[in-house]
Amino acid sequence: MSVQVGTMKVISKKKFEGDILFYFGYGKKMPAEFNEFKQDYKSIEGKLGSVYSAPVKKRNYSRIAFICLGEKKEFEPDFLRRAAGTAVKMAKSMKKTKIGFVVPHINDAPKLLTEGSILADYKFIKLKSKPEEKPIDTLTMVSSSEPAKQINVGKALAESQNYMRELNEQPANLMTPRKVAEEAVKLGKKYKSLSVKVYDEKVLKKMKMDTLLSVSRGSTEPPRFVVIDYKGAKKPFYCLMGKGITFDSGGISLKPSKNMHEMKYDKSGAMAVLGAMRAVAELKLPLRVVSVLALSENMPSGSAQKPGDIWKSHNGKTVEVLNTDAEGRLVMADSLSYLAEKKPDGIIDMATLTGAVVVALGKNAIGLFSNDDRLARTIEEAGNNTHERVWRMPLWKEYSEMMKSDVADLKNVSGTGEAGSITAAAFLKEFVGDAKWAHLDIAGFMNVTNSHPYLDKGASGVGVRLLTETFILFSEKKK
Ligand code: BES
Ligand code: ZN
Ligand code: ZN
Repeated sequence: MSVQVGTMKVISKKKFEGDILFYFGYGKKMPAEFNEFKQDYKSIEGKLGSVYSAPVKKRNYSRIAFICLGEKKEFEPDFLRRAAGTAVKMAKSMKKTKIGFVVPHINDAPKLLTEGSILADYKFIKLKSKPEEKPIDTLTMVSSSEPAKQINVGKALAESQNYMRELNEQPANLMTPRKVAEEAVKLGKKYKSLSVKVYDEKVLKKMKMDTLLSVSRGSTEPPRFVVIDYKGAKKPFYCLMGKGITFDSGGISLKPSKNMHEMKYDKSGAMAVLGAMRAVAELKLPLRVVSVLALSENMPSGSAQKPGDIWKSHNGKTVEVLNTDAEGRLVMADSLSYLAEKKPDGIIDMATLTGAVVVALGKNAIGLFSNDDRLARTIEEAGNNTHERVWRMPLWKEYSEMMKSDVADLKNVSGTGEAGSITAAAFLKEFVGDAKWAHLDIAGFMNVTNSHPYLDKGASGVGVRLLTETFILFSEKKK
């Protein structure tokens, strides 16, 4: 069975027939359609997300609703995603499944509204015996212009993000490295433009991927290395790499048990890369992308690696493992040097790499680390467009000095407790050679913990739209 990414139909029409018709607008200015109910709304606040709705008679729908976008001068494009999310949640709470949006005259409105709706409609129900609510059946965009193209882009992005959420929410007993690899193979069957290769532990040994293999030693689940090749054009040629630890117990440097279950989300980087490959294929973007998912469990056992162990990585550098919980950088070291050999125009990796990035930036910015200004700026622009905003941190050589080992070339933790997310990035930098490279630390974003207008609690699906938007900028604007 293929992964359920949502069944909502999004269509465009000049007239709406269905349950609820939604209007969107700035401030306190309600559309004329609401005139007859004006006396009911003496105190409109005009705040972002405020909803005013009323039943109507003798129309092809039974209710109209107005959703406020806040004051015009404070408007941000993401408000349209949020407003769409509010509309979808309201309709579902009223058990209505056919909704309409009167598309406001705002740039990209059909795309943003489509994204917000599809993301808000998604719920992880796979493991419930009885789903509690019905999904939205049809969303009609009522528009005088032709919004079909924007709807399709929004749909590809949001459905690919939901695809990632569906995989990432599944716990470690179900979504093992082998299972993730199977899902990647299934995706390759669905999209003929994606060629998917899966390497097992025996091949990885031959490929000299010993820092990756060191992480899997403690687990009864074998690791997998998945390579996905998309050829929509010869150039530009980019690589993606995702950290895919399907469960991070910390290994012998065991994590505390509180919230350890959340470490099923330690595969978020790899899942975002897989989701982005789906979106790239769906949108048929004109570029080449080779991506790698580095998949492993990190478990303690008699065969697990021990603090102090030293391994030789794919690029020949030796690494002293002082903390087995800093495992992400070990699987990424081999993967990044494998990709650097392909001489791409750039490499972007995504990883739930450090708790320290959450200390530094909280949950409002993804940590960005890069050795190339142009690549970094394009990712920043993409992040502003998708509202998955990034903030660049330094990578000065002093940080690299902190990762030198007394007995090997490198150590996997500095041991100082300082600048944890930067020293992690400085470690990764040792494996990209002279490739242009950017690292995104998404540790703060892997799951949604507070209520959000268009994302349910649980796996967030972060990064799918960010990576795809970066490629849209690269391929369309020829950045
Ligand atoms: N997967 C974790 C990072 C993480 C922590 C992600 C919290 C999401 C939420 C990573 O493998 C890890 O354990 N990092 C250590 C590094 C330390 C040992 C230098 C950390 O952040 O504590
Ligand atoms: Zn860890
Ligand atoms: Zn980890």
